[in-house]
Amino acid sequence: MPELSSLDIDKIASLCKRRGFIFQSSEIYGGLASTWDYGPLGVELKRNIKDHWWNRMVWERDDMVGLDSAILMHPDTWRASGHVETFTDPLVDCLECKRRFREDHLDGETCPECGGELSEPRMFHLMFKTHMGPIEEDASIVYLRPETAQGIFVNFNNVLTSTRKKLPFGIAQIGKAFRNEITTGNFVFRTREFEMMEIEYFIMPGDDENIHKEWITDCLSWFKDLGIKEENLRVRQHEPDELSHYAKNTFDIEYKFPWGWGEIQGIANRTDFDLAAHSKMSGERLTYFDDATNKHVTPYVIEPSTGVDRTVMTVLVDAYSEEETLSASGKKETRTLLKLEPCIAPVKVAILPLSRNEKLTPLARSVYDLVRNSDSITGHIQFDDAQSIGRRYRRQDEIGTPFCVTVDFDSLDDNSVTIRDRDTMDQIRVNIDTLVSELTIKLK
Ligand code: GAP
Repeated sequence: MPELSSLDIDKIASLCKRRGFIFQSSEIYGGLASTWDYGPLGVELKRNIKDHWWNRMVWERDDMVGLDSAILMHPDTWRASGHVETFTDPLVDCLECKRRFREDHLDGETCPECGGELSEPRMFHLMFKTHMGPIEEDASIVYLRPETAQGIFVNFNNVLTSTRKKLPFGIAQIGKAFRNEITTGNFVFRTREFEMMEIEYFIMPGDDENIHKEWITDCLSWFKDLGIKEENLRVRQHEPDELSHYAKNTFDIEYKFPWGWGEIQGIANRTDFDLAAHSKMSGERLTYFDDATNKHVTPYVIEPSTGVDRTVMTVLVDAYSEEETLSASGKKETRTLLKLEPCIAPVKVAILPLSRNEKLTPLARSVYDLVRNSDSITGHIQFDDAQSIGRRYRRQDEIGTPFCVTVDFDSLDDNSVTIRDRDTMDQIRVNIDTLVSELTIKLK
């Protein structure tokens, strides 16, 4: 794989646009800064990542349940959680070129763009505000949630009484969050509207340090199962001065992006901060009755929290690859491919008739129906008969389709087709009767 420079993020963004992964939001009006829309393939990729996470974190465990809470919440939620008071970033302006920066993201004391003098930092609030109801007054202010976590904390009693879970147990949620970031950029890495996959894992106070370590291991292994190369992942502990107001200790899982290491997941020990704060503000006791001691305890919380869009960005960067190959006529050319794990690839299998010949099409269509109606292969199956077979292979490589099935003229006689492997370009011939079982094994 070539070394990606920060410029190459433009290459990935351009592939994403060309092939229908990610588009600039409101592009026909000139776009809206750092907001993005997911196209036909992007939506499949994103959905596969979320499903993979939900399978692993909820369905495969018996100590987890799910939740889908509202984006708009009672404004007291954000007073209790400390966000109204402290969810700010230090903003500095360059007095020369007028650009704005987050002070904590700067290495030096001058403007990184023009070397100009910087203003004193001002604290800038990150929560988006809107008004509920017809009258725009202070009393009607509500916030767009900057994390999904608070929806989990305020529902603690509801989930506990409806599920009768015992400690330790967790609540998982996937949903949108909004932050009025000062500096955005690097494509979908930092945006103002994004999706999060969060877990609040409730435990007995005192068990926090061990369970924190277990979650770090589990989360790292989840990223590796997405196919992300181990050498591009690391765990970094927060310095005391970077800890959020609620955290006793936090570890970030970071990825080696072309511009340097960047956080893809935060795993925080939030202690009993949130449940205690909401108990106090609401007057509702958010505790757990411990049968062993006959006492109410306020559970501690370990919180693995990751961005869906940032995970999309990570798998795209990690899977992007360029290889020198020879064309059919012997000319050197560059093959671009996304080496995505089959579990997250937006298209699992493409069925390609060698040509649009009227004899081939019915057989190719029946192979397409066979694969997409099979019980053992789930996900998007594509039928593609436009353009030359070489171009279609190149297109499928570029969108990360792990396997192409080619129906050719021999298929009419021998009832066999060719399975082409995206990464090796090796081709094997299989009988149509065994095609589904062959693909099922390969897609596992
Ligand atoms: N509830 C904990 C929490 O919100 P965080 O470290 O601020 O923690 C968690 O965010 C994750 O959400 C990050 O690791 C990142 O993957 C994602 N994230 C945060 N801000 C983001 C943004 N502006 N754009 C895209 N993803 C973001």
